[in-house]
Amino acid sequence: MNTEIIVLAAGKGTRMKSKKPKVLHPVAGVPMLGRVLESAFRLSPRAIHVVAGFGAAQVSDYLETLPSEISALTDTVIQEKQLGTADAVSCAIDRVHDDSMVLVLYGDTPLVRPEDLRNFLAQSAACDMGILTAIIPDPTGYGRIIRSAGGSFMSIVEEKDATDQQRKINEINTGIICSRALALKEALPEVKNSNAQGEYYLTDVPAIMLAKGRKVSLTRAGDFNTLCGVNSNLQLAQAEAAYREITSRALLDAGVTLADPKRIDVRGSLQCGTDCFIDINCLFEGRVVLGDNVIVGAGCVIKDCSIGDGTIISPYTIIEGSTIKRAATIGPFARLRSGNVLEDRVHIGDFVELKKAHMGEGTKAGHLSYIGDAEFGRDINVGAGTITCNYDGANKHKTVVGDDVFIGSDTQLVAPVTVPSGVTIGAGTTYTRHIQANEGALVITRAGKTIIDGYNRPKKESPKGK
Ligand code: UD1
Ligand code: CA
Repeated sequence: MNTEIIVLAAGKGTRMKSKKPKVLHPVAGVPMLGRVLESAFRLSPRAIHVVAGFGAAQVSDYLETLPSEISALTDTVIQEKQLGTADAVSCAIDRVHDDSMVLVLYGDTPLVRPEDLRNFLAQSAACDMGILTAIIPDPTGYGRIIRSAGGSFMSIVEEKDATDQQRKINEINTGIICSRALALKEALPEVKNSNAQGEYYLTDVPAIMLAKGRKVSLTRAGDFNTLCGVNSNLQLAQAEAAYREITSRALLDAGVTLADPKRIDVRGSLQCGTDCFIDINCLFEGRVVLGDNVIVGAGCVIKDCSIGDGTIISPYTIIEGSTIKRAATIGPFARLRSGNVLEDRVHIGDFVELKKAHMGEGTKAGHLSYIGDAEFGRDINVGAGTITCNYDGANKHKTVVGDDVFIGSDTQLVAPVTVPSGVTIGAGTTYTRHIQANEGALVITRAGKTIIDGYNRPKKESPKGK
C-alpha cells in the first residue's frame, strides 16, 4: 500500500522559551525536523506533507536546504492557528490520496528510526488505524493508553485531562499513528475541542474510529529511547544524550575504544578502522573516516576529514576538511583549516595553523607557524615561527617549497615565492621571490648589526608631586 506521511511541525514549543520554532532546534547538529524527514524519506513514501505554522518562514527556509531527493517529495501546508494536532492533520489531509496509508509523525520526536516505522506499518496493516505505544518509567506529560480489561484499545487520555488513576498508567502514546486515508478523512471532522486545553486532539481520533466500528491496533515499541518527544530544553538535552548513547554504542560495537562513551559527540558520521582510541570530549562533525590504529586525544574537534592508519592526534587539535595520510602526528593545539593534504609521517606540532597546504612525506612543522596556500615537498624542517605571508591585502598567493629544505626559525616566506630543493634558510630570513637561490644554497637575510654603548633607555616619567 502507498504511504503518505504527514509531519506536524506547526507548534511554537512554548516551553523552549525560544524565538526559533521548536522543530528547528538541533539534536546532534541536525534540526529535529530534519531528522524526522530523513527517517520519513527512508520509507520511500508517495509524499511527505509538512504542517508548518509558528515560524513557518523559518521552517520553509530550512526545508529548502534539504537534499533534493527529500525536498522533491516534500510539500508544506500552513496551519494558521495552532488549534491542536487533529486540526494540524486536517490542514494536510486534502492533499492525501484516498487510497494511501497515512503515517503521522511529530516533528518533535527526532530520533524515530525508519526500521521501527516500517515494522509499525506492517503490524498495523490489517487495521484501519494503528498507534505506536511505549512503556516508560516516568510517563509524565504523555498521553496515556487506556485499554479494556481484555487488553484491547479503548482511548487515549492526555495528561491534562487524565484522572489521578489514569496518570499512573505507564503505557504512553508516542504520537506516531497510521491510518487508512479514507477512514481518517471521515473521523477528523468529528473531533471536538472540549478538553482541558481547548484543543483538537489527534489522540481523540482512535476512539472515534472505534465507535464507528473500525479496527484500531496498538503496537508496542521495544525501545523508547528513540521515541522520546521534545517539549522543553531539558527534554532536548535528554534526546541529545539518547542520541549520544546510540552512536557511542555503535562505535563500541564496531570495536572502537572510547575513553568515556558519555563524553563523545558525533554530529554526522564517524567511520573507524580497527583499534582506534578516542579520548574524552572529542567532537566529530560531517563525515569523518579514521583508518586503523588512529589515536584521537582529548578535546579534539574533527570535521569532514579522512585520517590514515597509525596517525596520532594529540589533545585540543582542530581539523577541518583535510586529508591526512598515514602515521602523521598532529598537535597538541594544532589547527588545520580546510583544504590540507598531509602525506605519510607528517608532523604538525603545537600552535601551528595550516590552510590549503600540501605537506610532503616526512615534513615537520613543530611549533608556532602559519602555513597557508602552500605546496611543501618532502622531508622539510619548518622552524618555529615560520610564516607564509600569503596575503598582500587583496589577493592570496602561493608558496612552493622543494624537498629537503631546512627553514630556520622565524622565517617569512613572502608569496608568491618558490624555494628550490635542498636550500637552507637561516633563522630570521625574509624570503621573497627576488632571492632566486639555486638548489642547495644557504640563504640568510638579516638586518645589519647596530651596537650603541651606554645606551640611555627611555624611562617612565614619575607622576607629578612625587
Ligand atoms: C502529543 C500527544 C500525546 C503524546 C505526545 C508524544 C496530542 C494531543 N498529544 O503531546 O498524546 O504522548 O505528543 O510526544 O497529540 N503541532 C502542530 N499544530 C498544533 C499543535 C501541535 O503542528 O496545533 C505539532 C507540534 O509542533 C509537535 C506535535 O504537533 O511537533 C505535537 O504537539 P505537542 O504540543 O508537542 O504535543 P504533546 O503535548 O507533546
Ligand atoms: Ca511534544
